[in-house]
Amino acid sequence: MKKKVSIIGAGNVGASLAQLVVHSGLADVVLFDIVEGVPQGKALDLSEACPLWGSSVKVIGTNDYKDTADSDVVVITAGFPRKPGMSRDDLLAANAKVVGDVAKNTCSVSKDAIYIVVTNPMDVMAQMTLKVTGFNPNRIIGMGGILDSARFRTFVAWELGIAPEDIEALVMGGHGDQMVPMPRFTTAKGISIIHLLSKEKIDKLIERTKNGGAEIVGLLKTGSAFYAPAASTFQMVKSVILDEKRLLPCSAYLDGEYGLKGYYAGVPVVLGKNGVEKIVELPLNEQEKQDFEKSFNAVKDLVQKLETMEAK
Ligand code: LAC
Repeated sequence: MKKKVSIIGAGNVGASLAQLVVHSGLADVVLFDIVEGVPQGKALDLSEACPLWGSSVKVIGTNDYKDTADSDVVVITAGFPRKPGMSRDDLLAANAKVVGDVAKNTCSVSKDAIYIVVTNPMDVMAQMTLKVTGFNPNRIIGMGGILDSARFRTFVAWELGIAPEDIEALVMGGHGDQMVPMPRFTTAKGISIIHLLSKEKIDKLIERTKNGGAEIVGLLKTGSAFYAPAASTFQMVKSVILDEKRLLPCSAYLDGEYGLKGYYAGVPVVLGKNGVEKIVELPLNEQEKQDFEKSFNAVKDLVQKLETMEAK
């Protein structure tokens, strides 16, 4: 039997991810949205591309959570995107309601699914999904680090004139303004960029990376990035479905790792059929540790802000 991936939210990220999954033939896809007709139309369009792509997966578009039953992976992309001038954190109240509903409605019909949370502010939405589903933290993972690292890889590749695939990068911490690009752990075929670029150059690339999402929001004006977010999410879906055990920067629930506990933050993890199978702890220097803790605390503050709002 084919594996089943349910994608909640048929907007730009959800539909682009659906395209990648269908094109790859990795799994059957259910595309869910509350807007009538949109998921059905996009699913039909994708189905009609299958003969051209040589894909035999099934694609369903729906407004009914029942169709998502028994998913192997549930991806949450539903929610509002940023407008120019907004930070990811400004979406807190509106998206918490959306993600809370989605988590509740999907977990009751897919009791064994691995969840990948994309909706912003992502680390907080992952925590909310954890709370609503009551599942083990290893089964709820946030997408942010792969995207931020892909942006860093791109800018480093342009600067060095080296193919982007030969650049590996690591961005840790929350997927927000306090994210922590790690130049010591960013390499061109294993050579750390601290040996290849000046500190001034690296600092510029770090700033552009941190501002990467906002740069695209500023250009698009009516939405946020979706090609790279979808490609990043696809790597995670694939690693879970095929049990690849890829080492990827993802948002995971920390339970003492890096000396921190009780909240989500971006760290290198091994992703397989059980979700987060391992969190890799790097030997951070004092500055890196400080920056990472600051980013973790920003996520913690936002979770607490949401809890206070919900208590009112
Ligand atoms: C970004 C949004 C999707 O970083 O968080 O583009």
